[in-house]
Amino acid sequence: MSKICVIGSSSMDLVVTSKKRPKAGETVLGDSFQTVPGGKGANQAVAAARLGAEVYMVGCVGDDHYGKAILDNLKANGVLTDYVEPVTGTESGTAHIVLADGDNSIIVVKGANDHVTPDYVKRALPAVQQADIVLIQQEIPEDTVDYVSGLCKSFSTPLLLNPAPARPLSPETIENAAYMTPNEHEASILFQGLSREEALKRFPGKLFITEGKNGVRYHNGTEERLIPSFPVEPVDTTGAGDTFNAGFAVALSEGKDIEAALRFANRAASLSVLQFGAQGGMPKRAEVERALS
Ligand code: RIB
Repeated sequence: MSKICVIGSSSMDLVVTSKKRPKAGETVLGDSFQTVPGGKGANQAVAAARLGAEVYMVGCVGDDHYGKAILDNLKANGVLTDYVEPVTGTESGTAHIVLADGDNSIIVVKGANDHVTPDYVKRALPAVQQADIVLIQQEIPEDTVDYVSGLCKSFSTPLLLNPAPARPLSPETIENAAYMTPNEHEASILFQGLSREEALKRFPGKLFITEGKNGVRYHNGTEERLIPSFPVEPVDTTGAGDTFNAGFAVALSEGKDIEAALRFANRAASLSVLQFGAQGGMPKRAEVERALS
């Protein structure tokens, strides 16, 4: 069983479905409201656990009822939560999601996720040290991402950096990451001044640009490759990127080559969008294998 350590956010998603997305200054009537577990870190941890990895989550929740629900949900999905702590006097992270016109828009309020500092990660070193691969995203403090990239380099542990939400990164952090998985928008912020082709060519086997229903693009050192995704009719695309990242990490940590790992991740992501909620459709390992065969 491969060992994965996820360092990142765990939040509650407050999801409104609506026929119309309101413009600035406009009020519209929505259709439904639901509260479901989310946060890019927790989503990736749950997806990796369902795909068969042993997963440690390193994160923080608030000392509120959302915090308890987030923790219970991680445990129910088999994620190891020894390094997920409630922060006294702080609210849990929340994501305010509007599902309209077949797509989502999200405002994240970090809350307790801002307490996932470099010092906090130092307390979770055993989880980082024992991992075959570490997964990190950017809903936690920026200096934590930089710190973890250096830590992984010093342990020679591959780091999969999912740079979402996007921000410019230092050349050192980019250098330290083994794999990076921005979507097209995030890649344009990360590699300002470079075309997509130039960026991919500069980071062969390291940079993987996800293109939603098109698939994922990378450069193999000789040529640019597009690994297509699997066509489906999505119900809710929230969490598809997280499932992709988890699937990619699980497959790589099991020794699959890059294209086999990308196909596995694409298949997992395509199944994840068939149900409501970031984690609602995240598949179990057997479902992905059945779909691939
Ligand atoms: O990647 C999807 C996630 O982003 C949602 O679950 C929400 O929590 C936001 O952080």
